[in-house]
Amino acid sequence: MGVVASAPAKIILLGEHFVVYGEPAIVLAIDKRAYAEAEIRNDKKLCLHSLNLNLAGYFENGNFKIEKGNAKEARSKFEPIKLAVEKVLEKHGENVGLDIKINSTVPVAAGLGSSAAVVAAVTSALGALLNVKMSKEDVFRITYESEKIVHGTPSGIDPAISTFGGTLLFQMDTGFKPLDVKTDIPLVIGDTGVARSTRVQVEKVQAIKEKYPQIVEPIMLAAREIVLKAIDALKGNDLETLGELMNINQALLYGVGVSDESLERLINAARKAGALGAKLTGAGGGGCMIALTKNENLEQVSEAIQRIGGRPFIAKKTDEGARIERT
Ligand code: PMV
Repeated sequence: MGVVASAPAKIILLGEHFVVYGEPAIVLAIDKRAYAEAEIRNDKKLCLHSLNLNLAGYFENGNFKIEKGNAKEARSKFEPIKLAVEKVLEKHGENVGLDIKINSTVPVAAGLGSSAAVVAAVTSALGALLNVKMSKEDVFRITYESEKIVHGTPSGIDPAISTFGGTLLFQMDTGFKPLDVKTDIPLVIGDTGVARSTRVQVEKVQAIKEKYPQIVEPIMLAAREIVLKAIDALKGNDLETLGELMNINQALLYGVGVSDESLERLINAARKAGALGAKLTGAGGGGCMIALTKNENLEQVSEAIQRIGGRPFIAKKTDEGARIERT
């Protein structure tokens, strides 16, 4: 039996898109985790097996061999993991063969940070397996480096939240600041099942901002104010206010063109079923929405999202970032 580690997925509670232009955003780690099990092999192969994606293959002398599933898909999923493995092996100072099994409960390509959660889990598991001293900072840096392969120039939100967990305030020029949030944040997350591209969505906002600077500037200021007010609401355990702020934030996101019909349907259904607030999360244009919901209404909101054709699951904030599950 190998070493097992895990790391959480994330949602952006408030501030997506506007964060690209320097405004603050609030990000939460949620209790959906990716798990990685690592074992040493007798040869020098790096064997990777994703149970949830049904993909398997190995790297040997720089070549990739597929064993299960589509080779192109497997390569694109495994390449960032390979990079993280190489970084840990560098720290270890010796090349060893490895078996790495991944089992993630995070929906993929839905803006929930599944790739960062997988890499943070693999990095943590390997550190423990090889007795390489690995601080949270090290896990973050390695995960961030490997995310650059997946996303080009990511803000670093996904690797940070997968590594550190909890609630983070993020702003481009100041980076991450943990927020001490005592209250539970019960959420229903609804996956529209509609594929979207973060890049395309970011470009939409850029275009509208260039065309209507005088209109979009005040929207950005409003988004900042929403986040600042939300910090107080979180500190004061005031979920009602937080829900209202989420609804206003959704209106701003709609205004800059990143909501769509699939999201609006789920958001409306959630509000009608009693959610305190609902909005898209992440890039929009499909992907996921979130509904802040009192504990007693979680099932009701979840059912409403399901009825309208979404894929709901209930999630809570988790304070636990990347962690070792079994040595
Ligand atoms: O859906 P995601 O996790 O790719 O979120 C994108 C968040 C944006 O604010 C739209 C872009 C960014 O880089 O922050």
